[in-house]
Amino acid sequence: MTSPRSVAAALARRGRVVVASRRTPPPLDDDGRARVLVTGAAGLIGGIVRPALSGEFQVRGLDLRAGPGVDWVRDMRRLESIAPAFSGIDVVLDLAAVSSLSASWHEVRRNNVPATINAFEAARQAGVRRVVFASSNHAVGMYEREEPWASVVGGVYEGLDPATFPRLGVDVPVRPDGPYGVGKVLGEAVGRYYADACGLSVICLRIGTVNRADRPTTIRHFATLLTHRDLVSLLRCCVVAPDDVRFGIVYGVSRNMWRLWDVDAARELVGFEPVDDAEIWRS
Ligand SMILES: NC(=O)c1ccc[n+]([C@@H]2O[C@H](COP(=O)([O-])OP(=O)(O)OC[C@H]3O[C@@H](n4cnc5c(N)ncnc54)[C@H](O)[C@@H]3O)[C@@H](O)[C@H]2O)c1
Repeated sequence: MTSPRSVAAALARRGRVVVASRRTPPPLDDDGRARVLVTGAAGLIGGIVRPALSGEFQVRGLDLRAGPGVDWVRDMRRLESIAPAFSGIDVVLDLAAVSSLSASWHEVRRNNVPATINAFEAARQAGVRRVVFASSNHAVGMYEREEPWASVVGGVYEGLDPATFPRLGVDVPVRPDGPYGVGKVLGEAVGRYYADACGLSVICLRIGTVNRADRPTTIRHFATLLTHRDLVSLLRCCVVAPDDVRFGIVYGVSRNMWRLWDVDAARELVGFEPVDDAEIWRS
């Protein structure tokens, strides 16, 4: 059987340094601001979201790796070790995962799935109000192999009208396009279970494309881009959404003219209104 350490080694091979510090951050203030824990805080999205939300909320970060914005250097696969980080938290933004589309079954089974389950279980044990789970568009990625979505992601727009082509809604059956997507579908199911069985408020975000460049770098991105500004807005909406939001799956995508997925569910559930359109980068 593979040990957690070997998955940590795999993460390290992907350029990530696993640090074993066990520093405990000072307790959170009781100043009326929502207390938010970001798992995977050392990653790309954590690095965008943490500074943007700090101020309005009290934000703490957790990651395998030490770095800016990481208060807890912990492995999400170790439930007992992460419990203190969840204590006193109102909302968890659960980003921790091997995020590569080429993640193997091994990485998904040994890291992503147990890390996701532990996020929900630690939240339940600590009495957290809401978990926002970073799912992915790859939960429904196989639709892109079929028309009209194959043409849209390929940038072949002839005969298509951006106002009328059928965008994928949150009601379509899941069709993951690899182990990474299967892990995200499992995470959504775990979230549904914790919402139904334990009363946890759960929002699953099928995030499109967030990249460092914050602009399209492939043709597909004109359909899938979620800009940093819209990402922060979406996550903020998820934190402040009313307590009666029990469970929902929404797409996280900017208001791109050729967006593949509809944002109606995000608008209705949490009031998300994306403002950016990837077309401004079309040359
Ligand atoms: N960036 C995107 O376009 C995109 C799209 C869809 C979904 N997502 C999801 O959003 C989340 C964040 O994405 P990102 O782009 O910032 O990825 P990232 O790879 O930059 O960051 C992920 C972070 O999670 C940490 N991590 C992994 N396993 C962990 C564990 N067991 N315990 C603690 N920390 C762990 C890593 O060290 C890393 O810092 C991921 O769940 C990813 O699957 C991202």
